[in-house]
Amino acid sequence: MHSFKSVKVVDDGKSIILKRVDGSTLRYHSTWLRDNALDSKTRDTKNQQRLITLLDIPINTYIGSASLDKSGENIFLTFLPETKKVSFSANWLEEHAYDFKRDNEKGLIAADLKIWGKDTLKNIPNVDYKSAKSDKTLLLQWLKSLYRYGFAKMSGGHIESGALIQVANLFGYVRETNYGKWFDVRSEVNPINLAYTNLGLQAHTDNPYRDPVPTMQILYCLENSASGGDSTVVDGFNAAMLLKNQSPDYFDLLTKYCARFEYKGDKGTHLQSRRPMIELSPDGELIAIRFNNRSAAPIIDVPYDDMEDYYKAYRAFSNIINDPTLAVNFKLNPGECFITDNTRVLHARTPFSGGGTRWLQGCYVDKDGLLSTISTMLVKR
Ligand code: FE2
Repeated sequence: MHSFKSVKVVDDGKSIILKRVDGSTLRYHSTWLRDNALDSKTRDTKNQQRLITLLDIPINTYIGSASLDKSGENIFLTFLPETKKVSFSANWLEEHAYDFKRDNEKGLIAADLKIWGKDTLKNIPNVDYKSAKSDKTLLLQWLKSLYRYGFAKMSGGHIESGALIQVANLFGYVRETNYGKWFDVRSEVNPINLAYTNLGLQAHTDNPYRDPVPTMQILYCLENSASGGDSTVVDGFNAAMLLKNQSPDYFDLLTKYCARFEYKGDKGTHLQSRRPMIELSPDGELIAIRFNNRSAAPIIDVPYDDMEDYYKAYRAFSNIINDPTLAVNFKLNPGECFITDNTRVLHARTPFSGGGTRWLQGCYVDKDGLLSTISTMLVKR
């Protein structure tokens, strides 16, 4: 439980300064506080959605008075010229504090993510399908690992076509594409995609030619008696950070210029996107990797003078991605699947051959569904 020692209105009511028990201070602006008021005329009491627009707040809004209750756990504000009274708890204000120093270095990774390579990922997050379905605690633990590592396995699933949808339903919603609600990954005579052959595939993220890109992928094994066809996953954020440490200039080139991706393999489909291979948020957070040699289109958004270095950067990034010390390898057995955060973790497979069969099914699921499931499960517990 947070509490404050004092509150002071400053800057002609445009801000307040709260003093914590330890003497440190926290500032908020009057416009920000008014916009985030929690009263029933500002926020719907049932769904918490905001009932007003910014334009409903007077441009000259200011705080006429501010006080704390005896415990310091609640603060009371009067906004003028509205004469509107609003209260906030110290807990809410602390939770939504924005008055702190930021490290705006390029390539920041969200604090709740764990970066991994072959040596650092000691155990692949894995859970039995039936156990996860019946034990919410176990499911939550596994979903959190899936988010944290951007990768997890599941075993013990049904060995029947479409069983991957049961896995998707544990945490989200399937995103249907031109490949269908789900698609078969096995050798075909006239494949519409090189994934449907027995060729090895370099580590890649799926469908970078879509905008928005599919954010989670499930690859589910139904048969795997062929020799080869092992699966590999690589943490793309780890690769991006290694590139940054190795050559900040190369990292900059891959973040500041857009690559292009394209797919027109089947009739009636022509998908194109223009996005960087390493995508940063405006404040420098690493948010997505797009890497796929098969669907890379001619890059035309890099100026002539930078193209040679851009290709050097692309090659350096490719070398890191192909580095076996980054890759985690495994062979999927029937009823097993692996799930990747397709905005971060790349997947690959070795070539396969021989008399056996390799039959996988894949589908895409939206990551916001995963995050929503985790968030609501945390509240219910
Ligand atoms: Fe793929």
